[in-house]
Amino acid sequence: MSLPKRVVLVGPMGAGKSTIGRMLAKELGYRFLDSDRIIEERCGANIPWIFDVEGESGFRERETAMLKELSEEPGTVLATGGGAVMRSENHALLKSDAMVVYLRASIDQQIERTRKDRNRPLLQNDNPEAVLRKLFALRDPIYTELADIVMHTDRKSPRLVVRQLVNRL
Ligand code: S3P
Repeated sequence: MSLPKRVVLVGPMGAGKSTIGRMLAKELGYRFLDSDRIIEERCGANIPWIFDVEGESGFRERETAMLKELSEEPGTVLATGGGAVMRSENHALLKSDAMVVYLRASIDQQIERTRKDRNRPLLQNDNPEAVLRKLFALRDPIYTELADIVMHTDRKSPRLVVRQLVNRL
């Protein structure tokens, strides 16, 4: 089996990118990278703080810089933030030497998996469900277009998703 140099996970908030990415990396003997967590470490602040102080555009600048840096790391599984596909300049960075996997989740699953979360500023409002619906309508075609593999995650354990993914890489 010849493995891709990198595996890049894209998809909406609550799709399981971090959980599945960590498990997949272990399975492949690759290093796991989580773009949002590395941005937080570098910045010394969490994502809500970055959105608060620098706005979403400030966060997106950091995200693009991070994707640039991480696109040069072979032997890695990268979990991206749900909005990483929204800048077209990021697309080449995501695709560079990589197998791009779209972890697809229904709106119901996204709601369920993000319900108690306080670290996602885009969902800290009166109607997070409406936000998730709007973002999904906008982003689903872009995730699909970029992806080499579309993996449905609804009603599947992370372990099962990883097993199915390993078979398709
Ligand atoms: C975002 C998703 C988040 C994080 C930020 C913005 C988005 O990442 O990057 O809050 O625009 O969908 P997760 O997809 O890991 O939650």
